[in-house]
Amino acid sequence: MIQTEDMEFAPRVISPESSEEDGDIEVTLRPQTLHEYIGQDKVKENLAIYIEAAKRRSEPLDHVLLYGPPGLGKTTLSAIIAHEMGVNLRITTGPAIEKPGDLVSLLTSLSDNDVLFIDEIHRLSRAVEEILYPALEDRVIDIIIGKGPSARSIRMDLKPFTLIGATTRAGQLSAPLRDRFGVIQRLELYSPEQLTDIIRRSSMILGIPCTGDGAAEIAGRARGTPRIANRLLKRVRDFADVMGNGEITQQIASIALSRLEIDELGLDSMDRRMLEMIIKGYGGGPVGLETLASAIGEEAVTLEDVCEPFLMQLGFIGRTPRGRCATKLAYEHLGYKLPDAAADDGQLTL
Ligand code: ADE
Repeated sequence: MIQTEDMEFAPRVISPESSEEDGDIEVTLRPQTLHEYIGQDKVKENLAIYIEAAKRRSEPLDHVLLYGPPGLGKTTLSAIIAHEMGVNLRITTGPAIEKPGDLVSLLTSLSDNDVLFIDEIHRLSRAVEEILYPALEDRVIDIIIGKGPSARSIRMDLKPFTLIGATTRAGQLSAPLRDRFGVIQRLELYSPEQLTDIIRRSSMILGIPCTGDGAAEIAGRARGTPRIANRLLKRVRDFADVMGNGEITQQIASIALSRLEIDELGLDSMDRRMLEMIIKGYGGGPVGLETLASAIGEEAVTLEDVCEPFLMQLGFIGRTPRGRCATKLAYEHLGYKLPDAAADDGQLTL
């Protein structure tokens, strides 16, 4: 059984954040077992061992922290873990747990060995986090009853459970919280081949005819992110239905993605505005993230969590202590001439 307590909304076609529209399709496409789950091989291999060991000992799985860019399947993996362990999954997010009492009622409602998934765990308040420490370490919670001098603390035992925390920013987690996770796994961006397999699987489940080339065309522009790949598949299907005979071919996919202003490497207008501002506004950088964000009218966290991991993977951006720099590859991709001085002094050899 899966219960979701919170949903997010994001308007950008290639935003890796979950949107309301993704809700149903993500659930339909979600693989149920580690075997069905494509990619993240190291994480899968490790989890398979930990799950098997926990099951043999009839114990809950140790607490797990999953981190990495959004849209890579942290919620999906949690659902798989719960399924493979044969237990219930409760899903919530850091900001949805407003008061310590909210967490207490979540924790006390769990059954033996259940999985509690907290997305954006770095956004838990300090007061809520403090309830979590003894819960994770000793399976107890301390509840304060009454106020002032007559206040008393009572200790309550919890059933054995597994917390799965997910975050895009492991660095923002407090050390005491991070230390209480026995398993810490980083999810990586997917390769185009893995995304092609994911799109082929999704198109089969959804009954969308799609050629191998068509799937590869979408995969190559999905910035390493299954959530984006599946969302693009749905958009490209609209073009295939209206402009073709319903089959997604390489040509239809290419036309559709260009119409969506997603270029052949998967950059969208926000990525291009970010790079253009570094190149044209700040002579290639370095420029601080906050300055850059306000110059293009975006949130610094969006640039840092969404644009940067992908642009860094492409080798288009370098991070220096003084800010972000555009690389030679970025100049070339956007068709800008390299500044002579920079090319001479090697500044752009990042
Ligand atoms: N759908 C979304 N992510 C997936 C994955 N990693 N494997 C299979 N199907 C998926």
